[in-house]
Amino acid sequence: MNTKDYQFIPPSKAMKWTGIIATIGMYIVNLVGFLDTQTGSALGCGPDWPLCNGQVIPNLNNIHVVIEFTHRMLVGGFALLATIYMIWALIRYRSFVEVRIFSLVGIGFIVVQSVLGALAVVFVNPPTVLALHLGFGLLAMVGVALLTVFLFQLDAESGHRRSGISFRQDTPISTKRWVWGTWIYTYIAIYWGSYVAFRGAGEACPTWPLCNGKVFPGFSGAVGLDFIHRLAAVGLAILTVLLLGNLRHYKATRPDLYKGAFWLFIAVIAQIITGANLALSHVATGPYLLHIATLMLLFADISYLVLQVIPLSKAEQPNVEPESGWSSRQVHNPQG
Ligand code: HEM
Repeated sequence: MNTKDYQFIPPSKAMKWTGIIATIGMYIVNLVGFLDTQTGSALGCGPDWPLCNGQVIPNLNNIHVVIEFTHRMLVGGFALLATIYMIWALIRYRSFVEVRIFSLVGIGFIVVQSVLGALAVVFVNPPTVLALHLGFGLLAMVGVALLTVFLFQLDAESGHRRSGISFRQDTPISTKRWVWGTWIYTYIAIYWGSYVAFRGAGEACPTWPLCNGKVFPGFSGAVGLDFIHRLAAVGLAILTVLLLGNLRHYKATRPDLYKGAFWLFIAVIAQIITGANLALSHVATGPYLLHIATLMLLFADISYLVLQVIPLSKAEQPNVEPESGWSSRQVHNPQG
């Protein structure tokens, strides 16, 4: 089996590098976006958009102006790069349903996020809407990241070489349910964390592991919101251990699934540690950013697992039997 057996042109180096840069860029854009919200800098440019305090380049004499203006510049640069990259991938590899889905998710949520971000400057939104806004930013990042992983898989598949990134094979429905269930639970837990932050309840339990010295502080008020956030974290830790147990029989045959679940477990532990550190720091900015940085890795990991259990699209159906444990496939030419 060699490259000629494949009828599509593998992604170029330029496209793969653009994907890596766009993914890292979206990660940074999200991080600075969270910083923007946490430091109350969203109005650093006043109610102006796209201008900042009525100027193209504002007077950077105030930290809120610096943060908001940097966020806008990063969005302008990386979100634009990511959009161009996804359109490029769509043009080249549109016959792959994964490319269509991830590009549309990425582009769609970048647009929704930009519109909501601009509206948030002009209108005061309720915490329920603001919390959604942050989740959309994560979905945009994940769209770009999964598209990049998929293009690397196509490249590895076309060259028929191991790259550390396995191409997918179909999995039983029970595996899909476990992975999708964990993804949905994680997304809800993230939404709740964001809701707690927007309700200003993050400091209600400034102690850890107990909340104000109580095992059960109750579910009412700010303490209740904060306590549910901690319970959700315990729930996620249990779910991740169960997922790992469920996927352990894939250790030899599908290391991508097993390793993905293992790293998810590590990410959840890191999330809990950074969460405890954040609570004990009385929600200081540095620990906050650390909590968000691990959160995005955690979410990227579980989203990668989702990609790995998505059924193969028609364009990827194998018509050659796997050789020595590495699947060989003929793939239709996406160029038409
Ligand atoms: C493992 C699951 C966890 C997830 C997915 C998670 C997620 C989040 C998210 C999304 C935010 C809000 C960021 C924002 O929108 O500004 C947040 C904030 C926060 N989290 Fe977590 N977290 C987890 C665990 C924990 C744990 C175990 C603790 C404490 C022991 C904790 C303490 C906090 C605190 C104090 C805040 C700040 C709220 C504020 O800004 O007022 N988190 N978390």
